[in-house]
Amino acid sequence: MKSAVERERRGLVVALDGPASSGKSSVGATAAARLGYRFCDTGLLYRAVTWLALHRGVALDDAAGLVALVDEVHLLDDGTGRLARVAVDEIDRTPEARGPEVDAAVSAVSRLPEVRAALLERQRRLVEGGRIVMAGRDIGTVVLPDADLKIYLDASAEERARRRVLERGLDPEGPEAAEILEELHRRDRLDSTRPVAPLKAASDAVVLHTDGNTLDQTVALVVETIQAAEAAPPATEAAPPPAAEASPSESSPSARRRFRQRRPIEPTPVATRITPYIWFGGLVLRTIARLVVRLRIEGDLAAIPASGPLIVAANHASSADPVLIGAFLNKRLGRPLNWLGKREIIDMPILGRLFRWAGIHPVDREAADLEAFRAAMRVLDAGQVLAVFPEGTRSRDGALQPVREGVGMLAVRSGAPVLPVAVVDSDLAWPRGHLLPRLRRTITMRVGEPFTVSGEAEQGGAPAPKRGRRGTTAAATRVVMTRIAELLPPRQRGVYAAEVGGPSS
Ligand code: DC
Repeated sequence: MKSAVERERRGLVVALDGPASSGKSSVGATAAARLGYRFCDTGLLYRAVTWLALHRGVALDDAAGLVALVDEVHLLDDGTGRLARVAVDEIDRTPEARGPEVDAAVSAVSRLPEVRAALLERQRRLVEGGRIVMAGRDIGTVVLPDADLKIYLDASAEERARRRVLERGLDPEGPEAAEILEELHRRDRLDSTRPVAPLKAASDAVVLHTDGNTLDQTVALVVETIQAAEAAPPATEAAPPPAAEASPSESSPSARRRFRQRRPIEPTPVATRITPYIWFGGLVLRTIARLVVRLRIEGDLAAIPASGPLIVAANHASSADPVLIGAFLNKRLGRPLNWLGKREIIDMPILGRLFRWAGIHPVDREAADLEAFRAAMRVLDAGQVLAVFPEGTRSRDGALQPVREGVGMLAVRSGAPVLPVAVVDSDLAWPRGHLLPRLRRTITMRVGEPFTVSGEAEQGGAPAPKRGRRGTTAAATRVVMTRIAELLPPRQRGVYAAEVGGPSS
C-alpha cells in the first residue's frame, strides 16, 4: 500500500484512454507538462509498427512478421519527459506514423494479440518512477490495471470528426468531412469490437465527456482531476473518520481545506416534482414576499410549456430575484425550478441539504463554466426546468451587464425553449449591499413569450452552419438577452439597450 507521502513524492501513474481523435495525445501531453509529469502516447508504438510493416511489405495479418518489427520501434523523449514522437532505426518517423495510410491500416495491426503482447511489457516499464500520464486505448484496463488514476476521455464521433476537420482546415460540409466521420465510425467499431483489449472505459475510470469543450477546457479538467487524485487519500488508505476531519490537530488546516475543496461533489438529483418541502417553502417565501414588497406578475403564464425541458433566463439585479422567481414561478408552472449554486452553499451542514431539496445543483467555481454547463445539461436532458441568470452576478446599477455565452450554448445544445423573465425594479426594492429590503416597493415580474433559440438565431443572419458553432452560440446568447431587455424598462436594459427596437415599455 502506498502512503500519501510516497504518492506525493512520486506523483501518480495516470492511465488516459479514449477513442480515436478524442484528444488524448494533445490533452494528455499539455496536462502532463503543466503538472511536471512525463507523457507517453502508446498509440505511436502501434502506428510505427504499422508504418514499418507497410514500408517493408510485411503482411498485416502476419503476426510473427509484425512481432519481429516491434524491437525496431522506439519512442523518443523530447528532453522534457514527453514521449510523443517515434523513431525507427534512429530516424524520426512520427509524420509517417500519423499519416493517412497508417490511419487506415493500424487497427488491423493493433487487433493482433501477438503484437499487443509484444508491446505490453515495454509499456509497463515506461511507468517505472511514476509521475506519468500514459495515453492509449487499453491502458486502464490491460496495461496498467493498478494505475493510481484512470481517465477516459470521451466525445461523440461527430464532435471528434468536427475537430479533425477544423485541424485540417477542411470544409465542414465537404466530402472529406463526411469521409472523416465515416472513418472514425469504422475505427471505433474495430477498436471496440476486437476480441483482445477492446476499447472501453475501465470500471473505475473517471469518464470525462468533452463534447463542446475547447482544448483548454479539457486540459483544465484533466489537470484538475489529477490534482484532485493527488490530494485525495489513496483508496486503500482508511478514510479519516468525520471526527478526525473536524479536529485541527489531525492535519494542517490548509491541507484539510485543500482536500475538502477537491473532494468530488455529489450531484443533486434533478428536481422533477413539487415535493411537500418545495410546496411549503414556496408558500412561506410567497407570504413573506407579499408582506415586504408589492409584487406584480405580468405575461401569458398559460403559454409556458407545461412539460419538457425549459430554460428560464432572467436579469439579476437583487437578492430578491431568485426568491421571487423560485417562489412564484414554481407555483405557476406546476413543476419545480432547478438552479445552479456555488458548492460552498451546498457544503453547509444543514442549509446545504435544504438547498439541495430545493433543487439547487452544486457547481465548483474552480471548475467554472464546464461543470456548470454539465449540471445544467443534466437538468435539461431530464426534461426539466432550469433557471439561470445569464449575467452570473447581480448587476451593480440594476441594468443588464455583458454576459458570457453559457446561456446561448445551453439553448443551442439542448434545443430547449427559453422563457425570458424580467424582474423590474428589484434593485430599488432590495439594493446590493443592503441587509434588508425596503418595505412596500413595487417589483414587477414580467414573463415573456417562450421561444426556441435555433430558429430565432438563424432568422437574423447567415444560416447557422456557415457561422459555425461559436457564431451560433453568440447569436443565441444575443437573442436571449435581447428578449429579456425587451421586457425591462429602458433604465435596466444596459448593454442590450441598442438591441431593443420599437417603443420602450
Ligand atoms: O490513439 P491512436 O489513434 O494514435 O492509436 C492508433 C491505433 O493504435 C488505434 O488503432 C488504436 C491502437 N492502440 C491500441 O490498440 N492500444 C493502445 N494502447 C494505443 C493505441
